[in-house]
Amino acid sequence: MFRRPLDFLNSLPTRGDLVELRLGPLRAWMACHPDVARRILVETRIFDKGGPLYNRLRPLMGNGVVTCDQDTHRRQRRLLQPGFRPSRVADHTDLIGREAESLCREWRAGDRIDVSAAAMTLTTRVMNHVLFSDSLRGAAAAEVGDCLAVIVRGLFVRTAVPVDALFRLPTPANRRYRRAFDRVHAIVDEVIAERRRRSPNGDREDMLDTLLAATRCAASGITEQEVHDQLVTLLLTGSESPSNCLASALDLLARNPEAERRLHAEVDAVVADRPLPGPDELPRLTYTRCVVAETLRHRPPGWLFTRITTKDTTLAGHRLPRGTTVLYSPYLLHHDPASFPDPERFLPERWLPGRAIADPHGAMLPFSAGNRKCIGDTFAWAEATLALATIAGRWRLRHLPGHAERLRPAATLGPRSLVMTCEPRAHAPAGTAPGARSLAPRATAATRAQDSRTAGDNGADDV
Ligand code: HEM
Repeated sequence: MFRRPLDFLNSLPTRGDLVELRLGPLRAWMACHPDVARRILVETRIFDKGGPLYNRLRPLMGNGVVTCDQDTHRRQRRLLQPGFRPSRVADHTDLIGREAESLCREWRAGDRIDVSAAAMTLTTRVMNHVLFSDSLRGAAAAEVGDCLAVIVRGLFVRTAVPVDALFRLPTPANRRYRRAFDRVHAIVDEVIAERRRRSPNGDREDMLDTLLAATRCAASGITEQEVHDQLVTLLLTGSESPSNCLASALDLLARNPEAERRLHAEVDAVVADRPLPGPDELPRLTYTRCVVAETLRHRPPGWLFTRITTKDTTLAGHRLPRGTTVLYSPYLLHHDPASFPDPERFLPERWLPGRAIADPHGAMLPFSAGNRKCIGDTFAWAEATLALATIAGRWRLRHLPGHAERLRPAATLGPRSLVMTCEPRAHAPAGTAPGARSLAPRATAATRAQDSRTAGDNGADDV
């Protein structure tokens, strides 16, 4: 589980629908059948947020909507939900296209691009706008990405080996984790303080103002601490998983030329002479959406989650006492051949409309299900589809010769230091043509960022 988690997960379904395993000293039960996973996700009064992952996330995200238990969840979700309505998401489609395009403009033909860092830059910029109306300064926004890289690795290690004493040792890796953790809190505190100073009455239509306005209404029950917790929660969840999704899609496309060719053909036809894909093009980007769906199936950014039982119960024929740790893994469910034939193949065609039912057992759970389902799912679909279409309209990304990146386990799943070269596409939209071929590959801001994402990642080897 610790060293080769993906292979380990794939080996479990042959052992039963619910399999007992050890996480360090802890016994836990893994759901290996979609029906069992769905029960865990729907019966939230019995299977509440908890277990090693959420125990580690709580000091980071406090009692925000991701980590809170069922008792306060409904109130919190109601507070945040309006910001994620489809109409609000539609308001942000231009922004997503613009940010993706501005990233593409930084690239020159032949450049080596750190795709992982570039995707993170894009998604933190978008979150910076949605949550804070761009109040996060450039350097702070970049720092959030770097801190996240350290945190997601550290979180996985702490989840797979839940032995607190190990992580109190003053090792370099533990100190880096602590520092990243403290910086994220400090950055969010600075943004809140500045907003209070500059516009105490709230004249921006962003999440920060929504939350600050709620603190002025006694009936809302929201405290100052909760404002901080929700913002940390949304900044981290809204940046990390979408960035993994985009980087994985670009990686998988480069490995699958036929899928890449179909994607390019669709983007050229749908976006045609428009400078950017927008809300009108979004519903017509059918194949692009299939690429996103297949990326989320093949490599779900959220791949392993924990829960805790709040009372004695029976699951898949096993009696579980109160306080039992239960796990579900979208990765395991998405790679079971009983649900998805030939699961290791990247096949966006699975999701084309009109095909036989793509997911007969309801095993596709990249955004979870039940009342703890991802609040940002509609946003994430739009963001990934538009960003991919914008990039694919301009650039073809290629792996470096001899590339063989192994996916390393972290709290989320995705390429951590994927470097690719970019070739201009012949059909780049008018007025946005990629730069001329430079004489030699240059180090871009994105490749420089790679150093901070790969250095000192608090990984399994460090520990
Ligand atoms: C590809 C992108 C994304 C993926 C794959 C993803 C995946 C998930 C998953 C699997 C969960 C459930 C976790 C569990 O069951 O324990 C979740 C919850 C959540 N996600 Fe996402 N997410 C994505 C994007 C976003 C975005 C863009 C935001 C916000 C801006 C967001 C905010 C949240 C929040 C707040 C929750 C907690 C919901 C609740 O408990 O009520 N996510 N996400």
